[in-house]
Amino acid sequence: MTSSIKPGTNRPIRSYVIRSGRFTTSQRTAIEQHWVDYGIDYDAARLPLEEVFPGGAHLIVEIGFGMGDSLLQMAREQTESSFIGIDVHKPGVGKLLHGIAEHGLSNLRIICHDAQEVLRNCFDPASIDQLLIFFPDPWPKKRHHKRRLVQTEFAELACVKLKTGGTIHLATDWQAYAEHMMDVLEGIDTLENVEGSKRYWDRPNRPATKFSRRGQKLGHGVWDLLFRKR
Ligand SMILES: C[S@@+](CC[C@H](N)C(=O)[O-])C[C@H]1O[C@@H](n2cnc3c(N)ncnc32)[C@H](O)[C@@H]1O
Repeated sequence: MTSSIKPGTNRPIRSYVIRSGRFTTSQRTAIEQHWVDYGIDYDAARLPLEEVFPGGAHLIVEIGFGMGDSLLQMAREQTESSFIGIDVHKPGVGKLLHGIAEHGLSNLRIICHDAQEVLRNCFDPASIDQLLIFFPDPWPKKRHHKRRLVQTEFAELACVKLKTGGTIHLATDWQAYAEHMMDVLEGIDTLENVEGSKRYWDRPNRPATKFSRRGQKLGHGVWDLLFRKR
């Protein structure tokens, strides 16, 4: 996870760059007003899921929800499931908080912190039913490949946190990243490709996201991968 340390420094290699600015008033106000109700402050300790979602439910975690439109849509449609969204992009956090409050959702909460640390420190083993990562930053330059979120170490951690029978759904519009994802996930013994060895998922049940629409406009292909924990 962030155990990959930048050579010559003590700094971990991150899969994101925090960009400042571009906050709308509505996003800023939503954070001020609604974080207290729908946000979860990061703490490097076990998250008491039984308190966050009393009664328990099918738990779906989305890493890197961006502006959050697709996560909001899924939470509105799948009211019987509980959702946790993790991202570091504060304008997106503000936008999603606004949506959660507007629709009065009780099944969606947000953590604004590095997802690799959240996954490692906050979730018990075998606690997640579905892990979603849609259009993670592709880091296309070779010298940046180490920044890609989906790496063997990350996938092994994700696998520990998934319940038996739980799934990990990845999507990307970068063919080279899709192939890398496939190699990484196929290389983990405890995961099986739901579509069959080396096969992508042709008809994913995933809402469109900001980045899937952007990829479409640019004429990119889209590759979805669905793996299940044995
Ligand atoms: C290319 S955007 C895709 C957003 C969205 N899933 C979509 O399809 O529109 C990638 C998102 O992942 C987030 N991200 C990347 N690495 C992350 C990490 N380690 N922890 C939390 N968020 C991360 C970024 O902040 C950004 O919002």
